[in-house]
Amino acid sequence: MQTVFGIDFGTTNSALSIYRNNTVEVIAIDGANGAGELMRSVLYFNEDNEIYAGNEAVRQYVDEGAAGRFMQSIKTFLPNTSFDHTEIFGKRYGIDDLVAIILKKIKAKGEAYLGCTVDSVVLGRPVVFSTDPTKDRVAEQRLEKAARKAGFTTIWFQYEPVAAALAFEDTLQAGQERVVFIGDFGGGTSDFTVIRVKGGAFGRSDRRSDVLSLGGVYVAGDKFDAQIMWDKVAQHFGRYARYKTLGKDEWVNVPKSIVHTLCQWHRIPLLRTRKTREHLRVIKGSTDDRQAIQQLENIIDDNFGFFLFQAIEKAKCELSDQEQTLISFVERDLNICEPLDKQEFEAINHDNIRQIANCIDQVVAQSGLLPSQIDSVFLTGGTSRIPLIQNLFAERFGRQKLESKNAFTSVVHGLGSSVPLFV
Ligand SMILES: Nc1ncnc2c1ncn2[C@@H]1O[C@H](COP(=O)(O)OP(=O)(O)OP(=O)(O)O)[C@@H](O)[C@H]1O
Ligand SMILES: [Mg+2]
Repeated sequence: MQTVFGIDFGTTNSALSIYRNNTVEVIAIDGANGAGELMRSVLYFNEDNEIYAGNEAVRQYVDEGAAGRFMQSIKTFLPNTSFDHTEIFGKRYGIDDLVAIILKKIKAKGEAYLGCTVDSVVLGRPVVFSTDPTKDRVAEQRLEKAARKAGFTTIWFQYEPVAAALAFEDTLQAGQERVVFIGDFGGGTSDFTVIRVKGGAFGRSDRRSDVLSLGGVYVAGDKFDAQIMWDKVAQHFGRYARYKTLGKDEWVNVPKSIVHTLCQWHRIPLLRTRKTREHLRVIKGSTDDRQAIQQLENIIDDNFGFFLFQAIEKAKCELSDQEQTLISFVERDLNICEPLDKQEFEAINHDNIRQIANCIDQVVAQSGLLPSQIDSVFLTGGTSRIPLIQNLFAERFGRQKLESKNAFTSVVHGLGSSVPLFV
């Protein structure tokens, strides 16, 4: 009997399942992280050319005083055709090389657990890597190339929300049939499907006719963090700072593009160009908020960007369970303490929520069903914890239809359950 891995390479977290003997098991891959089922999808490179992944990467980054290069949300770069490779301490890494490092570490964990090598994998992919079909294809090809570089020879892809549906199906009693709307809200993408599921269907081969519709949108956890940064924190990094351009007696704002890039954490290293640095040096010479520009320079050098991001994410997660929180971050002469309440969080994310809501409505419409004809709504992924997201579904389907379980492992479990569809 063949043994196959299921790998959920997520924007924020990755996980591994093993399919063998007609069962699926999700195993620990990062001992340093709680139950260990999740590995943060991050990398750390130091000047000695050592590479760390997951929590080890975070620990090493902290231990070495943030001296090396830290990378996160790497999945987001897959469809970005203008980003092909990056230079780290004199070495060139293609985007597929970066992903391969993470996949290789996960593969090794699974193989150590089993005591044998495994060369087949079902990889999850969002429904929409990009709305541009060329970029979407590039993203999947890069992911496939990464899997080959990691040592897999047989590679299949499964849509992440379809995988979540199969995990949901595994919880139903034999013969129990439902039409379910699946919402998988992660760090990078929100992915949806309307699908027919049936308890005891595990191993049934062709499921294509059960998928009634599919859709997705590039708005998820990272975007909510970016919005908090823009509205509540960016003022500490020059969002409102002005300066006088050479030879003119006229105040102008710091270029919005710089502050915008700052809000997309994974893109901060792109600001480390000679041109941007020079521009900032000029701005610093005549600005009305020198401290903010200094802090902007510091964060671009990535001394504390990751930790600031952690503080923002922490505040966001707290608002899933409480009415108000503090974004609190102290580093050298930077002392941020911004209160944020749920209402304001929801207000600043109005546009993000609208995009998600539109996509949900499209996916329901494409299924050809009315909301009343959909039996259940299964919500998964870390971002599904946000009450406003749950409300979107309660409004459309009724709160009694909402179910959620295993927010962080249902996709990877379902990738394992997908194996019989392919072999
Ligand atoms: N309690 C919470 N409230 C709000 N957001 C949360 C909570 N817990 C986790 N998150 C967010 O969930 C996201 C991570 O979820 P998940 O692990 O499902 O994503 P992923 O699979 O890595 O991403 P993707 O599927 O988009 O590639 C992060 O943005 C994190 O901040
Ligand atoms: Mg996910």
